[in-house]
This record gives sequence, structure tokens and C-alpha cells, in this order.
Amino acid sequence: MFSSAIGYAQQNRPRFLEELKALLRIPSISTLPEHKGDVRRAAEVLAEELKRIGMENVRLIETAGHPLVYADWLHASNSGIAKPTALLYGHYDVQPPDPLGEWLSPPFEPTERNGNLYARGAVDDKGQMYMHVKALESLFAATNGLPLNVRVILEGEEEVGGEGIATYVASKPADLAADFALVSDTEMFAPGLPTLCVGLRGMIYTEIEVRSSRTDLHSGMYGGAAPNSFVALCQIIARLKDESGHILVPGLYDGVIPPSSEELEAWQSLPFDEEHYRETEVGSKALVGEEGYSVLERTWARPTLDVHGMPGGFTGAGAKTVIPAKATAKVSIRLVPEMTSADTFDLYKRYVEHIAPSGVDVEVRLIHSGEPCLIPVDNPYIQAATTALKEVWGEDTVFIRSGGSIPIVGDFARHLNLPSVMMGFGLPDDNLHAPNEKFLISNFHQGIESIIRFLEVAGETAGR
Ligand code: BES
Ligand code: MN
Ligand code: MN
Repeated sequence: MFSSAIGYAQQNRPRFLEELKALLRIPSISTLPEHKGDVRRAAEVLAEELKRIGMENVRLIETAGHPLVYADWLHASNSGIAKPTALLYGHYDVQPPDPLGEWLSPPFEPTERNGNLYARGAVDDKGQMYMHVKALESLFAATNGLPLNVRVILEGEEEVGGEGIATYVASKPADLAADFALVSDTEMFAPGLPTLCVGLRGMIYTEIEVRSSRTDLHSGMYGGAAPNSFVALCQIIARLKDESGHILVPGLYDGVIPPSSEELEAWQSLPFDEEHYRETEVGSKALVGEEGYSVLERTWARPTLDVHGMPGGFTGAGAKTVIPAKATAKVSIRLVPEMTSADTFDLYKRYVEHIAPSGVDVEVRLIHSGEPCLIPVDNPYIQAATTALKEVWGEDTVFIRSGGSIPIVGDFARHLNLPSVMMGFGLPDDNLHAPNEKFLISNFHQGIESIIRFLEVAGETAGR
């Protein structure tokens, strides 16, 4: 492998890292209204940077929520040979940093410790998205152009469901026409093991609201006669799944397509130690889940249901003797191919209404949803990716799925007819969405080099 762009990236490692730190200092938390300006500022900084490195038609695309960042460079076919077009996707928004007290260094002051860069967004997804930008910069700097046509689309709402980009992709598919998408927002299965993710779960994120009386009541005066919204809500939640984690919503599993025997066999040879996973990643006394399924199957290929929080009632210090009139719960269901969010929500809503105890009102609301996806691997872009990864990492690529969701990836397939190459460089212990999120600094740099090489090899594939 000879690549002058990789040489450039290697010479500029310290600067690339410092520039990433500057981006990580912007608290672009998409779910918190008070950070709306910060989210926009991150978008503006990225647009400036894309312009500076040589991308064209750089602009912010307004949505009902946070802006998209678009850029392209479409001159790779000048020599008369058609070159493919890559769509590079990433998200510049991040999750809230709480609980703040558990961070060893502040979430928006990127800090290096034992070879890692600690900050909210370090790996999910600013650090990984920035690998794309730095790979493009290296290619422009070393070769005065790019080895293929490139469009870049960045969103600032991935962590809140990705409404804006979904609307854009559905309404203006021609604006993002490409041959494949490159997404770096997933993990390597183990350190040093190049990994392509070929499946994601979808999800419905919902809120159940129970109302039990017109107003809050004194629990001594009315307790015994008045229904209690929290008790009713807990009764509902207790009937959503059984002890083994099997979801009790009738018909919910009807759409589930099990993985092929080849895929299951491949998962068996992945280096996975359940005990180590329980101890170091989950940190629980025991693992739970459906009998007859391995941990990888449970998290990658089975639907699951979780409760995220139950706002309402009295939660302050001390005691208050109240029967709360209203209780809510945030509940999500992860979907696997070929379940659909619409059917799942219908079945779930009907079931919740059906099991609600008498004497209370229940309302089930959908907050956001996204479809599951499974990427076909028999295309030249997956091939190009494994070739490039072998050159950079010296190892054969493993194919995995992930339990997480990136809603737009399914839309790329449905609306743009694009296969996605999900080439991520996070690690299982990177603390995504948790305190002390980090990115292994050597993975940031080797990730940039992998992406450079991938774009070079993909550029040798015939385009449309
Ligand atoms: N990058 C993650 C998804 C992910 C995590 C994929 C780990 C593979 C491995 C993404 O930013 C994320 O957190 N998505 C949310 C989506 C939701 C808010 C719609 C998720 O999975 O909860
Ligand atoms: Mn992400
Ligand atoms: Mn995330």
C-alpha cells in the first residue's frame, strides 16, 4: 500500500487531535433546548472546516429542528472514467453528560489519559465523524482532489431520533444521489480487530401516561378508595415482559426474521467471553434475557423492551404523603429485521390500553421511531472496505451487527437505494452515552488512515 494521503495524515496527527478537541468543547446536546445555539455553532464550525479543506457547495440545510451540514466534491470523473460517489454520513450532536459528578474530567474539556481522549462525543459521534473530515483533508492535500466523488451529510439530531434528516432524505433523494454510504458511528468488536457492522436494530421510543384522579390527593384521606397512578403504571409495566425478557405484546414477534445459520455460525467464532462482558461492561450480578439465545443474539437479533425513567409524583428529599394524579414512563422497544415501527407501535399501544387497570385513563404516545436494517454484503464497497482494513490493520475483517440504532441508515437503503458501509472504530469500553465517554486516540488516527485507504480502493471500483 502506498498512499501519500496516509503519509500526510500521519505527519499531521497532533494537529488533527487538537482540532477534534476544539469541536468537542462545543456542548452540542441536541435534546436540551438551552443548547440549541451550541448545536448550530458545531454545524457552522464543521461547514467552515469542510470549505477550508476543499469541499464545495458547503451549506447548512435548515430543518424543523437542528440544521444539516451538506458539502460535495463531484469532479472525480473528469478523466472520462466514471467514478463512484460516496455519501459520508455522521452526526455532530451528542447526548447530555449527566451524571456530571461521575466524570473524572469535565465532559466538554477534552482530556487525554492513558492513550484515550475523554469527552462527551469523543467517539459518538464527533470523533468518528471528524475522521471523515480529516481523511478528506488528507486526500485533498496530498493529491489535489479526491479518488472518487464525495457528498457529505452531517446531522445534529441523531440522538433525538433524526427527524430532520429523515424528512430531507425522503423529500430530496436526488440531492444525495450516490453509490454507497459510509457511516462511522459503530464499534470494533475488539481492540485491533477491524469490524464492519452489517445490522442495526430499529426502535420505537414511547411514553405511557396514566391519570388516576382529577388532582393530587392526600394519601391518608383518600388512600384505600382512590386509584394510584403509579401503582397502575407499575402494573402495566410488569405485564410488558416476562421474567426471561420475552415481550408479552401479542403478535410482536411475528415480523422477526432469525439470522441465517451462516451468520449465527460466524458469531460463534467471534472472540466473546460472557463472563468478562458481564463483569467489565455491564457490571451486574447476572445477565438476563431469553433462554436459548446467546448474548450476541439477544442484543443484535432479538427485539427488547426497556424502561428509561418514570417522571412524576414526589421524588424530592424527605417525604410527602400524596397520591399522584398522574404518572408517566418512558419505554422503548428495539426492533429487528423485518419488524416495522408502525406495526409494533400499533400492537404495543393496543396491548397497553387493554391491560390498563380499570378506573384509570392511559395514553400511549410515540416520541420517535426508526426502522431496523440489515446490509447486504455482496457488493464491491464492502469488498473495498475489507481490502483497506486488511492493509491498515493487518487483520481480516469481522462482520457483526449492533444492538444500537442509527435510524437514517435504513432510510439510505429505502429512499436512496444505497448500501451502507458501517466502518466504526469505537471500542466496547468507550462508555457511549455514559460518564467518561472516550475514544482510543490510536483508533482515531488509524481510523482516518482506514477511511483514506477505503476511499482510494473504492475509487477504483466502476461507478454508475
Ligand atoms: N452511535 C449510536 C448507535 C450505536 C451504538 C451503534 C453502538 C452501534 C454501536 C447512536 O448515536 C445512538 O446512540 N443511537 C440511538 C438512536 C436513538 C436515539 C434513535 C440509540 O441507539 O439509542
Ligand atoms: Mn452515534
Ligand atoms: Mn449515540
